[in-house]
Amino acid sequence: MKSPYALDVQGLRITLPGTARPVLDGIDLTVAPGETVALVGESGSGKTLTSRSALNLLPPGALTSGHVLVAGDDVLAVSAERLRALRTGTAAMIFQDPRAAINPLRRIGDFLCESVVLTGAMNHADATARATELLQEVGVDASVFRKHPGQVSGGMLQRVMIAAALMGDPSLLLADEPTTALDVTTQAEVVALLARLQKRFGTGMLFVTHDLDLAATISDRVYVMYAGRIAESGPADLLFAGPRHPYTAALLASTPRLDAPAGRLAAIDGQPPDLRTALSGCPFAERCPMATEVCDQRPPELRPAPGRPEHQAACHHTDQLERSPADV
Ligand SMILES: Nc1ncnc2c1ncn2[C@@H]1O[C@H](COP(=O)(O)OP(=O)(O)O)[C@@H](O)[C@H]1O
Ligand SMILES: [Mg+2]
Repeated sequence: MKSPYALDVQGLRITLPGTARPVLDGIDLTVAPGETVALVGESGSGKTLTSRSALNLLPPGALTSGHVLVAGDDVLAVSAERLRALRTGTAAMIFQDPRAAINPLRRIGDFLCESVVLTGAMNHADATARATELLQEVGVDASVFRKHPGQVSGGMLQRVMIAAALMGDPSLLLADEPTTALDVTTQAEVVALLARLQKRFGTGMLFVTHDLDLAATISDRVYVMYAGRIAESGPADLLFAGPRHPYTAALLASTPRLDAPAGRLAAIDGQPPDLRTALSGCPFAERCPMATEVCDQRPPELRPAPGRPEHQAACHHTDQLERSPADV
């Protein structure tokens, strides 16, 4: 299938065993080449599943429909061999916890080189040269080559993971809360590093975070996810200046709490519906100050804001939200 996007998710629906509704329910999402797209939402909304679907890394028993195109290949339908090549070349993932994503018994240098060597993309000498170059790029001394993961700090290990992700020269980076496991100072450094490398290599990036400030800082466009659906999407500046979905508005209005590790998202009352609950209407209705009868009866479709087709919200009452500065 042809697609102009680095990542093109079309109508993705995923159902897990023993649940009453799809955990992802009709996701449409794109990342253009060189674009940084943030995927935000509370814990449990489906961000990790969405990003992992780009590498077809799904839980056992997951039933899928729709398309997930990575550089034009549908990763839900390609051969195992093509999928391996995609995972080591075209698309790369940076995980939340670097220590969980690396074998503690192997030397970092072997870890960096093995996937491109195993797939035959590079010989060992070229892989070593490229790894050395990338380590310099991420600001890590080449002496880590001989070290084991346990001998370096979490921040340094995440830099190594970023270098590893870039080994196959990917057109798509998937970063799933890549700084959550790091201390605050290191977090800022790693985010700045990712932003710089993404620009330098022109890589499309899907950046998953529950941190709205971080999303606003790093992304060109944002998708706000709620209970396995896209609640709102649009250019970061428009979306944060004038949210079109009451969920986004509530996230933005809630007071930041320094003591809450989940940041602002902790401050909205109530819980998202769990997967044992089937939904007939809007998943946010139960927590929504604007909800009326129609919200319980019909799921809202994503619709563009008047005159701004790139800014969309799935809300029956979006027009009652305060106008954004762009409208006046
Ligand atoms: N392997 C799995 N088995 C069963 N349920 C899962 C599995 N992975 C995720 N889920 C469920 O899917 C939902 C979405 O999870 P996830 O994508 O991890 O959300 P997020 O990254 O936004 O916190 C959650 O309700 C979670 O409990
Ligand atoms: Mg997650």
